[in-house]
Amino acid sequence: MMEKRAKTEYPIHELLCSRWSPRAFTKQIPSKDQLLSLFEAARWAPSCYNDQPWFFIIATKENIKEFEVMLSCLVEQNQVWAQHVPVLVIGIARTVFALNGKINHYAFHDLGMAIQNMALQATAMGLAVHPMAGFSKSCIRKTYNIPEEYDPMTAIAIGYPGTPDELPELLKQEELEPRERKRVREFVFTRAWGKKFTD
Ligand SMILES: Cc1cc2nc3c(=O)[nH]c(=O)nc-3n(C[C@H](O)[C@H](O)[C@H](O)COP(=O)(O)O)c2cc1C
Repeated sequence: MMEKRAKTEYPIHELLCSRWSPRAFTKQIPSKDQLLSLFEAARWAPSCYNDQPWFFIIATKENIKEFEVMLSCLVEQNQVWAQHVPVLVIGIARTVFALNGKINHYAFHDLGMAIQNMALQATAMGLAVHPMAGFSKSCIRKTYNIPEEYDPMTAIAIGYPGTPDELPELLKQEELEPRERKRVREFVFTRAWGKKFTD
């Protein structure tokens, strides 16, 4: 199993260091209980007014036909590797508050928090989660009959991280590259925009 630990400037929790988004997964399908633990983790994310605007549709390779239907909604570049993952999920945000029907400007923020909870729970369980924007929303809407006020925002690949050997050459190279980030000094300010907190 490949690891791509973050090289941090300041110490952070092991779980955050070791989470990453692989494209190579093993064929092993996580158990239903394991998958439910990931959604349980999502469940405990914070959300604006505790509205919990996240919804998920899951397709596992337990049912190849259903899996392929979801896979067909991904863009070609993602299908190349995601066809080999054992589980696909679509993360969907309800864009209006359940309470009053008003627009929830934080719906995508909160869906993202829920997905990161899933990713960290997955990492703790030896699994990995790879989020994707590259899919057709209209395909997902049509396929699963999703109502207007719900927005399919993120596709997610889930499984056990594998070895990059079977990836196409370009993806294999990317898989082996170290994970890069901006420096903390580039995005944390104090007193005024651009005044670096780190100085
Ligand atoms: C909202 C979102 C959309 C993404 N879309 C794609 C995608 O369509 N295809 C893909 O291969 N990776 C996708 N990624 C993965 C990112 O490329 C990856 O998280 C980033 O390069 C950082 O790598 P790391 O997660 O391994 O730290 C997406 C990530 C996020 C959060």
